[in-house]
Amino acid sequence: MAGLYIHIPFCKQKCSYCDFHFSTSLKYKTDLIQALLKEIEIKQDQIKEPIQTIYFGGGTPSILHQKELSSIVERIYTNYKVAEVVEFTLECNPDDIDSQKLKELKSIGVNRLSMGVQSFFDDDLQFFNRAHNANEAERSILKSQDEGFENITIDLIYGTPLLTDKKWKQNLEKIRDLNVSHLSAYTLTVEPKTALHHQVKTGQITPLSDEKVVRQLEMLIEQTKKYGLTQYEVSNFGKEGFYSLHNSNYWKGVEYLGFGPSAHSYIGEKRYWNISNNAKYIDAINANTNYFEEEVIDEKTAYNEYVLTRLRTIWGVDLTHLKTNFREEVNTHFEKEAAAYLKSAHLLQEKEVITLTHKGLFIADKITSDLFFV
Ligand SMILES: C[S@@+](CC[C@H](N)C(=O)[O-])C[C@H]1O[C@@H](n2cnc3c(N)ncnc32)[C@H](O)[C@@H]1O
Ligand code: SF4
Repeated sequence: MAGLYIHIPFCKQKCSYCDFHFSTSLKYKTDLIQALLKEIEIKQDQIKEPIQTIYFGGGTPSILHQKELSSIVERIYTNYKVAEVVEFTLECNPDDIDSQKLKELKSIGVNRLSMGVQSFFDDDLQFFNRAHNANEAERSILKSQDEGFENITIDLIYGTPLLTDKKWKQNLEKIRDLNVSHLSAYTLTVEPKTALHHQVKTGQITPLSDEKVVRQLEMLIEQTKKYGLTQYEVSNFGKEGFYSLHNSNYWKGVEYLGFGPSAHSYIGEKRYWNISNNAKYIDAINANTNYFEEEVIDEKTAYNEYVLTRLRTIWGVDLTHLKTNFREEVNTHFEKEAAAYLKSAHLLQEKEVITLTHKGLFIADKITSDLFFV
């Protein structure tokens, strides 16, 4: 089985924290879709496995019209062997969602909606420079459920300057009240070159203290557990049967093809990443010149990526996998570094699998960097 990722690099406005690849100008939209269609076609021989997951991410895929989305989906179905049951996710911004849009999404086969809520409070949304308000956030979920979408995931951000513990608790209570089956919750990261970075650098904003961020992470773990969601990855929480198959496959090393500017692919020991510029991507695709870079994943990279991704999940690091796939020197390094954390109960070993403990979760980055083979 394999996955497909389609990157839609357009947004209505620039959120203050975001450094993903997108443009707020729709100037190249038509040309970009044409280039995307061509890329989908050219790559058809690269994957032999049936496609089990399709994921439209961005940017803002919900910004596209029905005709544009359906032309992309059609191109996928005519060029790839798509499995009968497919998880088909599309990222939506709440302000794009109404009954008509939801019907259109359903008609092209979307069966999982990823709603970029971020917060259910207007002051946070304004602080983020989001295009939607709190009312729209809630309404988009209710409307999606009314239209029959059962598999809805929402994104929330915590550790933000205006988010008090009381508000964070209330944001999390919406999971229960709105009967949401999946949540991706991220700590606010100040990315270079973003408006947020500028605000922090010029002293307009003071980031939340580490202590407060940790407290909100604790609240997140505790409350989601109470609502029946399992933390199956550091930032991802789902009810049983609602874990993201597409993302879980990334973490399990399943192959995928990515289309569109900045999209990554992972096929047969190689990683590819497309150029992160709309105009250059279009020109290169049209001129049949190179539009991506590639790297062969050597042993060290493969090991570091395996440890980094697997330790963040409930599936953990499998010692048998390490022994089968990596040299003795690499295994010895892992065992030596892991021993101290096992002793201090930051890591837990059950049979051949090592996972983070609750205590370990709070220093996950430190543990992984110590386990890296450099
Ligand atoms: C790239 S966005 C795409 C989804 C969609 N465009 C949206 O914003 O609703 C994916 C998610 O990443 C998260 N995110 C992006 N940048 C972040 C940052 N600097 N800190 C924390 N979360 C971030 C947000 O929760 C966002 O919904
Ligand atoms: S967070 Fe989403 S909507 Fe906002 S700029 Fe980034 S990709 Fe666009």
